[in-house]
Amino acid sequence: MFKNLFKNTPEGEIQEVNLDEAKMPQHVAIIMDGNGRWAQKRGLPRVAGHKRGMEVVKDITKASSDLGIKVLTLYAFSTENWKRSEKEVSFLMDLPVKFFNTFVPDLVENNVKVNVMGYTEYLPEKTQKAVHDAIEQTKDNTGMILNFALNYGARAEIVTGVKKIAQKVVDHELSIDEINEDTVSKSLMTESVAPYNNPDLLIRTSGEERISNFLLWQLAYSELVFTDKLWPEYQPADLVENIYEFQQRDRRFGGVKEGKNK
Ligand code: IPE
Ligand code: IPE
Ligand code: MG
Repeated sequence: MFKNLFKNTPEGEIQEVNLDEAKMPQHVAIIMDGNGRWAQKRGLPRVAGHKRGMEVVKDITKASSDLGIKVLTLYAFSTENWKRSEKEVSFLMDLPVKFFNTFVPDLVENNVKVNVMGYTEYLPEKTQKAVHDAIEQTKDNTGMILNFALNYGARAEIVTGVKKIAQKVVDHELSIDEINEDTVSKSLMTESVAPYNNPDLLIRTSGEERISNFLLWQLAYSELVFTDKLWPEYQPADLVENIYEFQQRDRRFGGVKEGKNK
């Protein structure tokens, strides 16, 4: 059991909670949503929400690492987010630069290793450099993997994976009969966080209850937790609460609960 962990109650109070160490999710993925609404509620421009959201990423990274999570995947920019205004996209492209400039020493101190999945070749040069440098500076760390989905889209990821497999067939490295679920899984971007390719827990903030082109293959048996909290107001106590909810779930993977097989 972990000690001194707290969660928020529906009444807004803070309550001590014991998480079950044996049932910790190993891979947690988060759709960090609600930055724009958080800012607009305060009469601020949308980008103010992204700025505050970046600070929340730092807090949640540290909390996740302290909780012993192996992989934390954060959806930071989708292949569809290019549809936003030039001003907003440009701000979002600067965020990784700001984030890594200030946070890499903390990542090193916490033994956290950075990984990025997505079509990074389409990001501005400065963003690519920030990402590349952060990966390089944390490559020897052996603790939690902080995995950013940056210019990531699951449908595009699947298309890329299918092409890789098709090329192997054309090159006679693989026969069609040899293609199985493992082949597909290995062709996806989450192979970079193997053996934790599939999230145990997916959290989406902001009250929206949809997947928005995130990890379509990998979420097949993930537990989904939706919270009304907007990302800029999400706190370590909320993460604990969401993990607590995960631990109450009965993951059956299509089977029958133990002892109920009669
Ligand atoms: C999530 O917050 C951050 C990104 C998608 C980059 P949003 O910017 O989507 O915030 P809302 O959903 O408009 O409130
Ligand atoms: C999903 O949020 C993408 C990220 C959090 C990076 P969106 O705000 O883009 O998703 P929709 O448009 O509400 O589906
Ligand atoms: Mg949104």
